[in-house]
Amino acid sequence: MTDQLWSSQRHRTAIGRVGLSAPARQAVIDLQLQPGMQLLDYGCGRGGDVRALQAMGLDVSGWDPVHHPDGELKPAEIVLLSYVLNVIEDPAERRQTLLDAWNTAKSTLVVSVRLRWERNQIKGTEYGDGILTSRNTFQHLFGASELRDYVQETTGVRCLSAAPGIVYAFKSDEARLGYLARQVTSEAGWLASQDTASAIAAIVDHFEQRGRLPSLEELPHPIIGLLGHLRTSELKRLAEQSADPLKVEEGAKRTTLDTLLFLAVELFHGRGPASSLPLPVQLDIRAFFPSYAEACKRADRLLFKLRDDAYVRRAMTGSVAGKFTATALYVHRRAVHRIPTVLRLYEQCASIAAGRPAEWSVVKLRHQGRGASWLDYPSFDTDPHPRLASSYSVDLQTLKSSFLSYADSANRPLLHRKHEFLAPDDPDVPKYQRLTDAEVRAGLYEEPHLIGNEEGWERALARCGRVLRGHRLARRPDS
Ligand SMILES: C[S@@+](CC[C@H](N)C(=O)[O-])C[C@H]1O[C@@H](n2cnc3c(N)ncnc32)[C@H](O)[C@@H]1O
Repeated sequence: MTDQLWSSQRHRTAIGRVGLSAPARQAVIDLQLQPGMQLLDYGCGRGGDVRALQAMGLDVSGWDPVHHPDGELKPAEIVLLSYVLNVIEDPAERRQTLLDAWNTAKSTLVVSVRLRWERNQIKGTEYGDGILTSRNTFQHLFGASELRDYVQETTGVRCLSAAPGIVYAFKSDEARLGYLARQVTSEAGWLASQDTASAIAAIVDHFEQRGRLPSLEELPHPIIGLLGHLRTSELKRLAEQSADPLKVEEGAKRTTLDTLLFLAVELFHGRGPASSLPLPVQLDIRAFFPSYAEACKRADRLLFKLRDDAYVRRAMTGSVAGKFTATALYVHRRAVHRIPTVLRLYEQCASIAAGRPAEWSVVKLRHQGRGASWLDYPSFDTDPHPRLASSYSVDLQTLKSSFLSYADSANRPLLHRKHEFLAPDDPDVPKYQRLTDAEVRAGLYEEPHLIGNEEGWERALARCGRVLRGHRLARRPDS
């Protein structure tokens, strides 16, 4: 294929990259890419991702019809198709390119595209189903849910949205469910072990975290090597003697809820037989439920409750973490695992519909209607009143998503009473609470409707004769 065959100058869309692109970075984390794994970057442009991934020890090849036509185009476990589909002006060729990339993937295809909210960054005229720029390059900007439907329909498999504009298509149910289980359930990982004592400590830790002893197939190889001489009954006795029973009980509760959450989320993808589930989930079901059928029944009930307004509101008002308002519950990222399971399910459903963005600090779950927004406050920890950088929202009734950036705004929305977004036992809560108390005493919250943005807040500070020094409120020197 040569450039002359295309009616737009597609090759001009390839930029020189320093460091990994967003989809490659996402795939490294989500798909647990390890040195030695095979990757193909299909339509690799100038090859920035290929070089960065090679530097990480991955076995990567790249191919591009213009920039690397001699690149190796051989099947690989993971195939990246990054920002290629959006530059193809011919819809039939666009679909064929997706299919060609899918056919080279042995395990997973990672598709990323530019999204509609970038429309104002692109100047040009309408052409076909996209825009033709003055440089004669073409862009078809996708809607976030349009991308998933498109990839799903073309490949014929169920896909998952990893982030806005990034979709994973898996060749096997095993790979898809393994990924889903990692996203939904809290994976504790294994403590490092160098000798028998530390290997037993790792087993005890797993027992306390998960609420059940691990099976042999779940153990990492170094631990098997260190404990292989012990009989199972002996290992069980040792672990039970050392573990804290309260922690084990807590772990069992957490795993039970995580399993329900996983099974409820999985329903969206057509639930299969128990044997299709990742092994740890199968073992959790065996340990904490009378049967797989019963676990599924309970998960379905949970999903059903998500439609019940009164139930969702009660869950929100009863949540230990998060700020409840007239329209929604707002929860900090590090407290999401502390909200009721039905609300975690709510957030997971939204994430599956539209992809959770990589950068976010607070999630907003609406109780009037169903919709979620992930809000990014980059300096939540350091700024006493963090400023909103961007918000990505999905309406669960229409599945429409939208993105708002405040990067160029001179009057950004900001947060007050930061402690309310966290769980009460978060180590930062006392510091944030002290500041809020001081602000209330100083009269700064007397007109709450006027302090939601930077300018209003500055005026309130001036009116009350106060300045902020870190998380401390002080008198203004001139007042
Ligand atoms: C926006 S660039 C993206 C390059 C690279 N994937 C990245 O993310 O840096 C789009 C690339 O798609 C390539 N391309 C255009 N049509 C293609 C097709 N039918 N199959 C594969 N690649 C194609 C172009 O040559 C161009 O390098």
